[in-house]
Amino acid sequence: MTLPIAVCVSGRGSNLQALIDAIAERRLDARIVFVASSKKNAPALDRAIAAGIPCRAFPPAANGGRDAAQALMAAAIVAEGAELVVLAGYDRILSDGFWERLGDIPVINIHPSLLPLYGGLGMMGLKVHEAVLAAGERETGATVHRAHRGMLDAGEILVQRRVPVLPADDAEALNARVLAAEHEILVEAVGRLAARSAVCS
Ligand code: GRF
Repeated sequence: MTLPIAVCVSGRGSNLQALIDAIAERRLDARIVFVASSKKNAPALDRAIAAGIPCRAFPPAANGGRDAAQALMAAAIVAEGAELVVLAGYDRILSDGFWERLGDIPVINIHPSLLPLYGGLGMMGLKVHEAVLAAGERETGATVHRAHRGMLDAGEILVQRRVPVLPADDAEALNARVLAAEHEILVEAVGRLAARSAVCS
């Protein structure tokens, strides 16, 4: 059975697009049943609309705060029939309300570093690449891992890809190289879980 997935986003949505494209090109046997955003004006929502995927924003301010907004988000994910949740640039820590409503649906996250390096609070977006450059690293990478209640950028690593740091890199250049790797490993990780769910169903 084709794996139904929900994707949680907050911004640009290039990882969401990588999944949309892989599914359209039949490189990935999955179906995106719902896109949930923490922000109303996230460009990722436009990508979902263009692809005909149901989507909705759950901004905390308009939904009774983060916990209530994320509980609503989880309820919508369950109602849409998702069997996997992909955090693809989702910029908030998931609250207890989210995990309680989600039940036992697995959650995975994409992070722009070789976890456990450069993970945790504050390590988001270009900050990660700035820290990598400041430390003089010669390589970095991207990681897809399982996400669990109460854990940030931790959980079993599913796929990891190394990416070189080049002498002329600034954070933007490094970000572009890592992002290309993210798109590949996210599709790979979802593909593996989809294959596993097909065997088990
Ligand atoms: C990616 O670098 C991802 O690893 C991080 O946030 C960024 C999201 O990018 N969690 P996009 O919205 O998928 O383009």
